[in-house]
Amino acid sequence: MTITIKNEDDIKKMRIAGQLASEVLDFITPFVKPEITTEEIDRLCHNFMVDEQKTIPAPLNYAPPGHTPYPKSLCTSVNNQICHGIPGPKILKKGDIVNIDITVIKDGYHGDTSRMFYIGEPSILAKRLCDTTYQCMWHGITQVKPGNHLGDIGHAIQNYAEDHGFSVVREFCGHGIGKVFHEDPQILHYGNPGEGIELKEGMVFTIEPMINAGKRDIKMLSDGWTVVTKDRSLSAQWEHTILVTNEGFEVLTVSEGTPKPWNPTK
Ligand code: MF3
Ligand code: CO
Ligand code: CO
Repeated sequence: MTITIKNEDDIKKMRIAGQLASEVLDFITPFVKPEITTEEIDRLCHNFMVDEQKTIPAPLNYAPPGHTPYPKSLCTSVNNQICHGIPGPKILKKGDIVNIDITVIKDGYHGDTSRMFYIGEPSILAKRLCDTTYQCMWHGITQVKPGNHLGDIGHAIQNYAEDHGFSVVREFCGHGIGKVFHEDPQILHYGNPGEGIELKEGMVFTIEPMINAGKRDIKMLSDGWTVVTKDRSLSAQWEHTILVTNEGFEVLTVSEGTPKPWNPTK
C-alpha cells in the first residue's frame, strides 16, 4: 500500500480541483427538475466542464481492471441505484431522489464530490434517508485528524446509519485521491474505533457513504457499472474530498452552493 502525502503545491492544486468539482454541482442544480433526463444532465455538465472550466471529466472512458470503459462524464444514481448509475434516457419525475457524482481533473489533480437532489417533494422516508446520509458523511469527516484511525471514520458512519435503522453498503468505499482518481487508502464506511491505519497530515481522501433504507446487499446491473439495492430499497450518497491538516480536516470540495457543514454533537 502506498499512500501519497501531499505537499503545499499539491494541496493548492487540489483545492482548485475540489472547488471546480463542487461548482459543477452548483451549475447543474437549477436544471435538476421534473422532466429532465439523466443524459441531459450529463450533456450540460460535460459541456460546462470542458468548455467553461477547461477541466477533464474523469469518469469518461475510465476503465479500472475488470470494467468496460465508463461511457459518460458523470454518474447519476436514481432511487434504488446505489452508485455509478450511467446517464441515459431516463426521465426524472416528481418524488425521485438522485445522486450526481462529479469528478474533474484540473492541472493533473482530481476533485471528487457528490450531492443528493430531490425531484419535487420527497417522501418522508426519502428525505430522512438523504438527511441521515449527509449526517453520516459529516460524522465521518469530523473524525478526521492526525492520530485518529480509519476505523474511527467508518465506525462513526456505521453507528449513525444503523442507529437510524439504515444499512451501510460494504462493497464500495471512499479512496485516496490526487494525481490518481482512486488510490490508497480505501476508506471503509463501517468499522471499529482504533482499527486501520493512522491518519497523517497531508493525506487526501474521499468520504462517500452509501446508505440503504433497506438491507445492505447490492446487485450489479448487466451494464457492468450500475449498482442497485438487491431489495430495491432507496439508497443515498454524499461525497466530499478531505485533506488531513495538522489540526484536523479541510474539506476541499467547497463552493458557493455547498450545503452547510453539519456539526454533529452526538
Ligand atoms: N466518482 C466516483 C467515486 O466517487 C467514481 C465514479 S467512476 C465511474 O469514486 F467510472 F463510474 F464514473
Ligand atoms: Co470518490
Ligand atoms: Co465521486
